[in-house]
Amino acid sequence: MDNNAVLLRAYNGEKTSEVPIWFMRQAGRYLPEYRELRAQHKMLDLIRNPELAAEVTLQPIRRFSYDGAIIFADILTPLIGMGIDLDFVEGEGPKISNPPKSARDIEALRVPDPHENVAYTLSAIEIASAELSRRGIPLLGFSGAPFTLSSYLLGDKGSSNLTLVKKIMRDEPDTWDLLQTKLSKLVGEYLVAQHKAGAQGLQIFDSWLGHLGPQEYERFVAPYLKEIVSYVRKHVTCPLIFFSTGTAGLMSKVAELDVNVFGIDWRVSLTDAFSVIGDTRTIQGNLDPSVLLGSWSYVQEEALRILEESRGLKAYVFNLGHGILPATPVDTVSKLVELVKDFKR
Ligand code: CP3
Repeated sequence: MDNNAVLLRAYNGEKTSEVPIWFMRQAGRYLPEYRELRAQHKMLDLIRNPELAAEVTLQPIRRFSYDGAIIFADILTPLIGMGIDLDFVEGEGPKISNPPKSARDIEALRVPDPHENVAYTLSAIEIASAELSRRGIPLLGFSGAPFTLSSYLLGDKGSSNLTLVKKIMRDEPDTWDLLQTKLSKLVGEYLVAQHKAGAQGLQIFDSWLGHLGPQEYERFVAPYLKEIVSYVRKHVTCPLIFFSTGTAGLMSKVAELDVNVFGIDWRVSLTDAFSVIGDTRTIQGNLDPSVLLGSWSYVQEEALRILEESRGLKAYVFNLGHGILPATPVDTVSKLVELVKDFKR
């Protein structure tokens, strides 16, 4: 595998003069070619078909000069093999019809081998990485983190108050520990399998971690994240990226994770994040995705402000602070990618 790609150099801690760029959710509904495929196939059918999932992964790479691709899947698909009935409902998002309600339900959850559970995603990685390596573009694999996965699994919607998750976490610590231990094993094995299939970097999404304060993070979440990171480190050598949102107040604790890269949102400045994270790890982010819905002059102003600020950092990767929004104009994305590619720091 070629480690010279600018994205991998930045992930490995190098201060590159070119700023690598890719966007979370870059394969998705803002692309007409994605919408065309989705008109013919359900979300889960696209993910479960390795050729189609590889095709969707490549769509944004054909259109824009992104420096990385991310495999088309979802953080929730690995939950299916645990005994979860998952569907993506049109206009509503993910729906789990049988969320575990009791300690017994959680005991009954299986932790299947990723080669059986998500063989389709591992095959999609093999197909996509073969094509991407010809283009010199690294492929990223990913997984949800146990806390964020729990928020969907237990029936909270990702952006609500997470009352179901928090109740089990606080009132039933043994049940919480069992669930987090199962999810940690699922996530660790899934990440390792993705790297072995051809993913050159692995991103852990803990999108809803910002719902917790620092004490509860340390107590109920950090031990499992550390376990996952050490499991992955023991089995493969590969850049690890940890992404979360709303976690500026947790950053000094989160920075203890032994990952190479921290993905940050727009609620914290690059400079402040850098002062906490330090110069031995890479920072990725932090443009507010909703900026892309507005005028080009504002997009340009914000992107240049971030790029200028990144001069004070060591390794840096341009990205959004959260997934790209479906209403984003393709033309804005094109212009923004070119603006970043033309910038030298
Ligand atoms: O391009 C990529 O980034 C790769 C594919 C990817 C998807 N989801 C595809 C997807 C990735 C990395 C994800 C991660 C994901 N999924 C997260 C973590 C990142 C984040 O945004 O916080 C979360 C929380 C989910 C769960 C999820 N999946 C939700 C809440 C939804 C519904 C909301 C929405 O955007 O529709 C999904 C569906 C989903 N996952 C879509 C895509 C392209 C849209 C499905 C469609 O085509 O209708």
